[in-house]
Amino acid sequence: MSDIDRDSLPAILSHAWTLLVRGGADRKSPLHTPVVASVDGDGLPQTRVMVLRKADPAAASLRFHTDARSPKVAQLDGKPVSVLAYHPQEQMQLRISGRARIGTDDAVVEGIWDQSTLFARRCYLAQSAPGTPLPGPASGLPEWIEGQQPTAAQIAPARPNFAVLWVDVTAIDWLHLANSGHRRAVFGAGDGWAGAWLAP
Ligand SMILES: Cc1cc2nc3c(=O)[nH]c(=O)nc-3n(C[C@H](O)[C@H](O)[C@H](O)COP(=O)(O)O)c2cc1C
Repeated sequence: MSDIDRDSLPAILSHAWTLLVRGGADRKSPLHTPVVASVDGDGLPQTRVMVLRKADPAAASLRFHTDARSPKVAQLDGKPVSVLAYHPQEQMQLRISGRARIGTDDAVVEGIWDQSTLFARRCYLAQSAPGTPLPGPASGLPEWIEGQQPTAAQIAPARPNFAVLWVDVTAIDWLHLANSGHRRAVFGAGDGWAGAWLAP
């Protein structure tokens, strides 16, 4: 567990972002795979695990990659979003609120697509949108690419299926569990991220 001053709001916020940045960079971090929540067209909550690709403390944003055809894209674009992460070693829960932004065709998305590995890009070759019923068990990928790394030319048609989800963070609810006494604080853009203590 990190040795930070858990009675200091600025230290807590800074540490939370440090762990999020690590979560975006380190596949072994428990913050690498948070749960992203949306609300569907029927008003029902929908949750799913997503890989955190990057956390940017200066911009207060998180970045995820997804299939532009997946139901979550329509559920999230321009809407409120909640991201949940738990770090067992730190005994820390983060409940992150924000606004979702979907990018599909600007230069930034293009750059992210170009930097992704060919293997990572392969899943966007899936013929049907995620969630489409299939006649039997299958990956949804075309047969010719199963088990193979595509070439740059082969992957090009998959590009329109790639989308970036940005979460512009508006608040972070931080909870730390400890035998010596749990602690909880909330930080929000509204108060300049000064933070306030809450009952755990
Ligand atoms: C460990 C793990 C990582 C995942 N990472 C992603 C991801 O980065 N992007 C994504 O769209 N789906 C990811 N998924 C799949 C989603 O959880 C979900 O099943 C899929 O995106 C369909 O979600 P939707 O129907 O809500 O759109 C991941 C699943 C697991 C188990």
